[in-house]
Amino acid sequence: MKITFQGHSCFTIENHRSHIIIDPFLTGNPQAKLTPDQVKADVILLTHAHNDHLGDTVSIAKQNKAVVICSHELATWLSWQGVEAHGMSIGGSYSFEFGRVHMTPAFHGNSYVDDERQEIIYMGMPAGFVIQLDGKHLYHAGDTSLYSDMQLIQRRYSIDVAFLPIGDNYTMGPEDAIQAAEWVGAKRVIPMHYNTFPVIEQDPQTFVKKLSEKGIEGTVLKTGESLEL
Ligand code: NI
Ligand code: MN
Repeated sequence: MKITFQGHSCFTIENHRSHIIIDPFLTGNPQAKLTPDQVKADVILLTHAHNDHLGDTVSIAKQNKAVVICSHELATWLSWQGVEAHGMSIGGSYSFEFGRVHMTPAFHGNSYVDDERQEIIYMGMPAGFVIQLDGKHLYHAGDTSLYSDMQLIQRRYSIDVAFLPIGDNYTMGPEDAIQAAEWVGAKRVIPMHYNTFPVIEQDPQTFVKKLSEKGIEGTVLKTGESLEL
């Protein structure tokens, strides 16, 4: 499979069968190079409804007739927007045609902000995902703090690649992300959710260096760069 970083928390994953995109925040994302109309996707995995994750989900889903996998409440809301969505809840897993998805906890918010009406709509729990694809396990943590139950992920799965936020302020910062990498048992970590906005500025190379001191490989991907697995 080919994993490509699309900026912020957005990744595309392609194999011989499927095109998957996670948290497709492209419009308004200063890191993004891909535009929503260029996206080819069968599946959209959405960790939560904040705009830096929900992003272009509705237009990409409609244009590609893609199914969106997300929290039950967010799935219901998306279905009202005319999008096909598969709702899940924390702790649940399901085998889709492309692979198996396990929804993991995330400690964060999951609101949709309607600026025009000055309304905040809550969409259930935010989440992360363990994605089982081509015999590999990928963990996308979503936006979350460090939490000790991340250790349970390691008990269940051997994580080949973990996508972990390091930006701090809204999520865990680099130090907690190193602990998360250990608790998850990740063989390789790709940092995400940093440097998109001034408030989440971090040096990913320092993070990767500290990871290597713990015997964990880190890979910093620039927008548009890929990892073959
Ligand atoms: Ni968020
Ligand atoms: Mn975010």
